[in-house]
Amino acid sequence: MRNFQITDETSPQLAVACRGLIRDFGDGETQTRVLHGIDLDVRAGEITLLVGPSGCGKTTLISIICGLLEPTAGDIEIFGVNRTSLTGRQLVEFRGRNIGFVFQQYNLIPSLTAAENAAVPLIIAGLPRREAIRRAEQSLAKFGLSQRIHALPSQLSGGQQQRVAIARALVHEPRLLVCDEPTAALDAHSGQTVMELLREVALESNRAVLIVTHDNRVFDFGHRIVHMADGQIEKIEERQILSPASTGPSLVAAH
Ligand SMILES: Nc1ncnc2c1ncn2[C@@H]1O[C@H](COP(=O)(O)OP(=O)(O)OP(=O)(O)O)[C@@H](O)[C@H]1O
Ligand SMILES: [Mg+2]
Repeated sequence: MRNFQITDETSPQLAVACRGLIRDFGDGETQTRVLHGIDLDVRAGEITLLVGPSGCGKTTLISIICGLLEPTAGDIEIFGVNRTSLTGRQLVEFRGRNIGFVFQQYNLIPSLTAAENAAVPLIIAGLPRREAIRRAEQSLAKFGLSQRIHALPSQLSGGQQQRVAIARALVHEPRLLVCDEPTAALDAHSGQTVMELLREVALESNRAVLIVTHDNRVFDFGHRIVHMADGQIEKIEERQILSPASTGPSLVAAH
């Protein structure tokens, strides 16, 4: 365990660099500062976990990193691009190329099949529907869901729905994957499967994976654990974790 320090190194492995991020909500007397100057690096090929009590600012921080919310002050570089300098369409395009999200409640569209759901980001990006569905099916297959491509979300288990959500988040091959509580609604076994997948995604594709979690079963999967409290980073733990090869067969194949 060590205290967090800002370094000046500009590593190609650096996916996200947040410097001095401040976020206020409200105006005048009701104004509250939710982020108090966050400095945070997220590296490629690693899983970074963001943990801390409810209300400490985790979702606010990742929403800013992903470009869903603007900071009141501070800078964010994502793969060397100053994300706060991007506006409107540029930001949407940058996000579409580089960032995937996974939310706690999957956010799948109930009337669409697994393959159609996973194809949504590609269809939005303008790919012909047939090609989008073909790539979505490939993405689902990677997550052990080739038998379920025609299923509606209501016909899938929670763990399967979350895997569809991960397949959707990765279908456009983003370099940064951000997940807010991806295992919160899952039982222990499904949660473990989802985390194994996310670890493979980070290690095999050299992606940066940033995960908000309350779930201490997830902690073993983090290369770094960033502890937040009251809108600040308290400490960062660097961990040695076992590679997938040394932890037995992947659970994915078993589903
Ligand atoms: N749009 C908003 N307007 C006003 N206050 C907000 C808004 N969004 C978040 N907050 C406040 O900011 C603080 C941090 O919220 P945030 O959702 O980032 O916490 P969190 O760490 O993700 O919590 P949890 O673990 O419960 O999801 C909370 O006090 C919340 O009430
Ligand atoms: Mg939250």
